[in-house]
Amino acid sequence: MPARLPDACLDQVFRTARTRNGWTAETVSEALIREMYDLAKMGPTSGNCLPGRFLFITSDEAKARLAPHMSSGNRPKTLAAPVNVIMAYDMAFADRLPELFPHNPGAKDWFTSNEALTRETAFRNGCLQAAYLMMAARSLGLDCGPMSGVKLDGINAEFFAGTTWEANFVCNIGYGNEEGLFPRNPRLSFEEACGIL
Ligand SMILES: Cc1cc2nc3c(=O)[nH]c(=O)nc-3n(C[C@H](O)[C@H](O)[C@H](O)COP(=O)(O)O)c2cc1C
Repeated sequence: MPARLPDACLDQVFRTARTRNGWTAETVSEALIREMYDLAKMGPTSGNCLPGRFLFITSDEAKARLAPHMSSGNRPKTLAAPVNVIMAYDMAFADRLPELFPHNPGAKDWFTSNEALTRETAFRNGCLQAAYLMMAARSLGLDCGPMSGVKLDGINAEFFAGTTWEANFVCNIGYGNEEGLFPRNPRLSFEEACGIL
């Protein structure tokens, strides 16, 4: 039976988690990167289509390739973080549907010759999976710093040329510190952002 998580867990993942701009020198192991993905991959996507793709940038060489495509304000913190994830999605995700959604063998055909539906589905579910990855990171005691201030065309040309992957945004991951931390901004109240019918 699912049970309500302890408050300490809700605090860590939601209430006290912050978007980090400064990073300690502590590294993130490949085992932890894999654990993060293995949690995130379990989040739901439409028709189990799983279009999210994640390129984990960890080496100095790869960071040097990514840095020119970050906005000037985002570049220093990207270089300082131990891991930068290029949150991407695969426009050819439908090719895997016969395996991923076997109880509907026709699912792949929904997307044949329908670029608009393919893009909408890849983007919607790719965004969801990127969010699952950030929540998985926080659940494992890591911090995140997502950034859309990037040149997507440049990242696509540098890392995904000749593939069907497309970049969405970049997220720094590691162990954050207080450096460059903005004051906590307000959130919309339930009354402002929600309805109940
Ligand atoms: C998709 C996305 C893109 C963002 N892009 C940038 C960015 O380019 N540069 C930046 O400094 N912060 C960026 N942010 C950080 C947000 O401003 C921050 O997450 C938000 O203000 C909430 O901050 P908090 O988590 O500390 O409360 C981005 C956040 C998200 C989710």
